[in-house]
Amino acid sequence: MKVLVVGGGGREHALTWKIAQSPLVKRIYCAPGNAGMAALAECVSIKAEDVEALAAFAAEKKVDLTVVGPEAPLVAGIADAFRRRGLAVFGPDREAAQMEGSKDFAKRLMLEAGVPTGKAEVFTDIEEAKACIAGGKPPFVVKADGLAAGKGVVIAQDDRSAYEALKACFLDRAFGAAGEKVLIEEFLQGQEVSILTFVDGEDILPMAPAQDYKRVGDGDTGPNTGGMGSYSPVPALSDEDYRRAVEEILRPTARALAARGIRYRGILYAGLILTSEGPKVLEFNVRFGDPETQAVLPRLKSDLVEAMLAVVEGRLASTNLEWRDDACVTVVVASGGYPADYAKGYPISGLDEAGAMEDVTVFHAGTRLGDGGRIITDGGRVLNVSALGRDFAHARARAYEAVERIRFQDMYYRGDIALRAVGG
Ligand code: GLY
Repeated sequence: MKVLVVGGGGREHALTWKIAQSPLVKRIYCAPGNAGMAALAECVSIKAEDVEALAAFAAEKKVDLTVVGPEAPLVAGIADAFRRRGLAVFGPDREAAQMEGSKDFAKRLMLEAGVPTGKAEVFTDIEEAKACIAGGKPPFVVKADGLAAGKGVVIAQDDRSAYEALKACFLDRAFGAAGEKVLIEEFLQGQEVSILTFVDGEDILPMAPAQDYKRVGDGDTGPNTGGMGSYSPVPALSDEDYRRAVEEILRPTARALAARGIRYRGILYAGLILTSEGPKVLEFNVRFGDPETQAVLPRLKSDLVEAMLAVVEGRLASTNLEWRDDACVTVVVASGGYPADYAKGYPISGLDEAGAMEDVTVFHAGTRLGDGGRIITDGGRVLNVSALGRDFAHARARAYEAVERIRFQDMYYRGDIALRAVGG
């Protein structure tokens, strides 16, 4: 079969890498892809948001399955556009994608379904929102309702920072229409865990858990990023809390969607906090996590395409997933200066040496082919180096040894990825 992967980051490279291992797959297209994906697939220069052009391409090439990586096209209705044309697509339609596209929608659904999550109030008026802050106790979680490219959540330690976050949404319109509605949420304390789940209506098939690192600096310092590393499984998540997450969060959420007449088809990503009262939902996303996917898929023994087809064809209830016992650690290699200003266009060396190491895979994120076929940097997060090992100490040592074989000007990475999992 022919598969089209939409997107061009580390998550999409990991998806393409796993899809390429399926005996069912003869040909892969990526739109737009990156230099790493180009080694496994034919990259076509259509942007991930160009829904109509992607559907026309899939129809012309007789693509059997399209897998959508990022959230923006899903929220914009890419799955609806494909299904209207009779094209098979892995990802929720526009109505279901509100689980990420509207924090208000997701929060209401959770409250309706009795899913544990932080308390929240919703505002469309800055004065009313300020009054809520004035009457509350910090820290405050201020969230833009819509998609904001990962920048829509502020954890304000005092009233003043909360007011600034409200001003950014309501007055400066930093997120446009996405910030016209704002949630002020209870701050939840605890370790974060991500569980990505295949969903088809009420049927769910959860994947192994992962944890990501959002801050740029060691020890979780500095500004938030798109993710600086990840690992799977998560020793801090007990079997009992995993079971609770599945039975008290994922299953009731799928049921609540179905009860509203919404058939969710794709991956539902639950961002959880392990509180003293058990797992609670921080957020839902409607796609694979980045960089969690890069640490989860190397551990998956089963055929990813089979699982995706099970969703598309309505037979998820009779599908299972098998996992390697090994730990996986993913270190994100970034351009110096990221997440603020950084330069692009630097040649990268050592990719082959790193990728040749046993159980190491180098996923590309911000890369492209430069003159003479050299791979050069083309983004803030440049590479994701994933390594499997019999335990976290082993996987970390391998991942960092591979990272040290890679070189480009001003390259930067955190040195403490998965350190908290060692010995866990
Ligand atoms: N790792 C966070 C995300 O994928 O949204």
